[in-house]
Amino acid sequence: MAKLELVIAGHKRSSDRLATSLYPSISDTEQSFQFESNEQTISVLDHAGVEGFTKRLTDRVAGLSTAILATDDNHGLDQLCLQHAFLLTLCGINELIIVVTGLKDTHKAEEAFSTIKSKSALLGWPKVTAVAIGSRGLEPPAWFDGPELTATLRHIQLADFPIDVPLRMPIRRTESDKSLYSGHILTGLIEMGDTLLFSPSNQTARVVALNAIDENESLNSAEAGREVTITLDSDLEFGNAELASHVDNPPLETDVFRARIAGFSSEVLNVDTGYSFYRFGHVIPVSIQSVERVTDDIGLDNIFDATIRASEIIALDPFEICKPTGSLILNDGENFIGAGQINMRGYADQRDLITVRSTNVVRVEHSVTDKHRAKRNGHRGGVLWLTGLSGAGKSTIAIEVEKRLFAAGYQAYVLDGDNVRHGLNSNLGFSPEDRAENIRRVGEVGALFAGAGFITITAFISPYRSDRERARTALPDGFHEVYVKADLEACEKRDPKGLYKKARAGEIPEFTGISAPYEVPKDPELTIDTSDSSVDECAQKLIEHIEHHFVLHDK
Ligand code: ADX
Repeated sequence: MAKLELVIAGHKRSSDRLATSLYPSISDTEQSFQFESNEQTISVLDHAGVEGFTKRLTDRVAGLSTAILATDDNHGLDQLCLQHAFLLTLCGINELIIVVTGLKDTHKAEEAFSTIKSKSALLGWPKVTAVAIGSRGLEPPAWFDGPELTATLRHIQLADFPIDVPLRMPIRRTESDKSLYSGHILTGLIEMGDTLLFSPSNQTARVVALNAIDENESLNSAEAGREVTITLDSDLEFGNAELASHVDNPPLETDVFRARIAGFSSEVLNVDTGYSFYRFGHVIPVSIQSVERVTDDIGLDNIFDATIRASEIIALDPFEICKPTGSLILNDGENFIGAGQINMRGYADQRDLITVRSTNVVRVEHSVTDKHRAKRNGHRGGVLWLTGLSGAGKSTIAIEVEKRLFAAGYQAYVLDGDNVRHGLNSNLGFSPEDRAENIRRVGEVGALFAGAGFITITAFISPYRSDRERARTALPDGFHEVYVKADLEACEKRDPKGLYKKARAGEIPEFTGISAPYEVPKDPELTIDTSDSSVDECAQKLIEHIEHHFVLHDK
């Protein structure tokens, strides 16, 4: 039977006042009290104050339905209360009781209370009750005609664990017995015999035994809110932060995502700085790739929309799909600096790109080696990966360079976005997933061309860093990223295909630079700025780079 739990957030002084009246006889460690009327036991998690709150909530992201936000007329709904409130929504809390303590019988106190009440209505919680408490015990001030605190608490209900939603359970390996996996089911339902998918390692296994964690009771099924131990039909190898789901409704896999973050101080989050993403007891190193401040009308001036990059693929969900796996808590090594809701707007689920489906395939060794080809051609094979906005000049440079290389007797070939999309990739559009697949295929084809000894010049927008890095992985030796640089304004002015005009008119959705992201290369092997150089100069720059890195001078 799940416990009825109540979180107390907000200001410590107000929560202490509540504590002495609500559960005076209970020790600090046991903060739990009983209501006589309907005999329900409520465990109180008193997290009020600055520090403890975030820390203790990082692992409590599911299973709470109601919270008290404690404040007084002095503090009102200040920054701290708003931060706590924001975190509580991340935890899935849908009912908030704002308790304002220490109110006098004066008109001034009444006004302060009514300001808090009207501000709370702007916050957009599903259910908010405001309760006024006087200076003695739980007695309300004379002017208050709202509900009493104890009566309000009597009506709180067990957290509504969603079981008709996708299964999500973060996995803990059991140290004593490696074949056992345990965890707290955050959402959904596990049944005996289910095939589970583990992400991000992308392995599957069948549940052959299911037990409640602290009891030997074996279960046929277990739903959200329960802690269970499962035995699988095969041994799996994975690291920390693995998430179990069903095969047909998995979380996303990605190394880059977006989040709306409430910062805990007024400082802007620092781009390219390392942060820690707290997740189900694990820490995932991340960095902020870009950040914009969002202004809003409820007094939280430190809300940011950020693009966040992890050093490896992680499993997550957009917040609107699954709150526990779609929330973000960031720490800078010392302090908690913000919390947010994850979204994937403009970014791709990379699961399909990294899932290997072919089995029983064995590589064949060529007897003609790269060296043989290079010797005959006078140059190595490789990929010059041109990336940049549409209209930056990628195709123009590529075609010009191909012409010059051919004239010089080199084996050279251009793979161009518009061309490849007529054939090999004619089944792909411009959604983030389709672009990622477009680039995955071209990365592989480029590597094959390089293997055939060609100096391969690819001209694709390739807006995502993750995809370009994957293309590099396809050809670890001989892949050179070339940033064809021209800012949006310049490209829009050129608009050789009239596409920017159409995109501005709303006729092309998800147009790179306008309504879809472009991630500038971080450390490209070469940058060609086309805004103030002629085609001839740009082509020459690439030729020189090729001659330096690919041509054999001692043939
Ligand atoms: S990528 O983003 O997947 O790398 P790719 O280089 O293959 O794009 O194709 C880009 C070309 O497709 C552009 O030069 C342009 O002519 C055309 N195009 C059509 N729709 C879009 C769009 N929504 N965003 C960008 N380019 C588009």
